[in-house]
Amino acid sequence: MDIGARSRPPFLGGARRGTARTVATAVLVAMTCGASTLAAPSQAAHAAPPPGAVSSAVSSAVSRAAASGALAAPDDRTKVRPRPRVDCRRVKCVALTFDDGPGPYTDTLLAYLAAYHAQATFFVVGGNVVTYPRVLRRTAAAGHEIGNHTWSHPDLTRLSPARVRAQLGRTDQAIEAVTGVVPRLVRPPYGAFNATVRRQTGRPMVLWSVDTLDWRYRNSATVARRALRAVRPGSVILFHDIHPTTVRAIPRVLRKLTERGYRFVTVSELFGGHPPRLVFNAAPPELH
Ligand code: NI
Repeated sequence: MDIGARSRPPFLGGARRGTARTVATAVLVAMTCGASTLAAPSQAAHAAPPPGAVSSAVSSAVSRAAASGALAAPDDRTKVRPRPRVDCRRVKCVALTFDDGPGPYTDTLLAYLAAYHAQATFFVVGGNVVTYPRVLRRTAAAGHEIGNHTWSHPDLTRLSPARVRAQLGRTDQAIEAVTGVVPRLVRPPYGAFNATVRRQTGRPMVLWSVDTLDWRYRNSATVARRALRAVRPGSVILFHDIHPTTVRAIPRVLRKLTERGYRFVTVSELFGGHPPRLVFNAAPPELH
């Protein structure tokens, strides 16, 4: 599948780059980089926070505990009602992913998702996190997964290792400052990465199996049709919530896929909490 070649949305008018990547390349990179997991700079940084970061680390731990239900007292049950776990090996799951926000249309999207009890994954850009912190806080509070999509959306394959780490690290800090949680997933802009980029983080790199090309087709009906035509159980669908046409397409996507029996889960949920190191095309899970 020519994911890398045909999926390079221009970000804020950014330059287009044309290096095609194949699935074979992606697999090779995943295999050759397996040993670098323990040396991931971003993980090392979070393992030993500087003194000033202790309070945020604690609040991060509290947030994680609260998310898992560990801190929910019985009296809180009426307020905090965790969703039952979805077993994507047994039911049809799809992961809707939204890149490049948060933005002015994200709140509307959150309302649409809530109406269908749908969870999604947002790969946010650090520069937009500081512009729309309250939107990101509401996104995280609604139970959606937040992923790191770099600070300023560069092609990471053109940066030095230090600059790649800075792009990811600065974004991690911005997201944690707002939500209390460090993202567990990374999506490289344009889906572009190489072995050097891969070595700069031990976290899963999440690409997609369905590309709506919504940055090109600024037409809600087209965006919805492209998603609905290609979706399979286990699909990871790429959208961009910075486009109002995309957000307006979502109610139709949610309604039609609900009719077909799909559940809307986060990327981590799609993989039972443990995404592989490279998610570029979620194989249909075994249906029992
Ligand atoms: Ni992007």
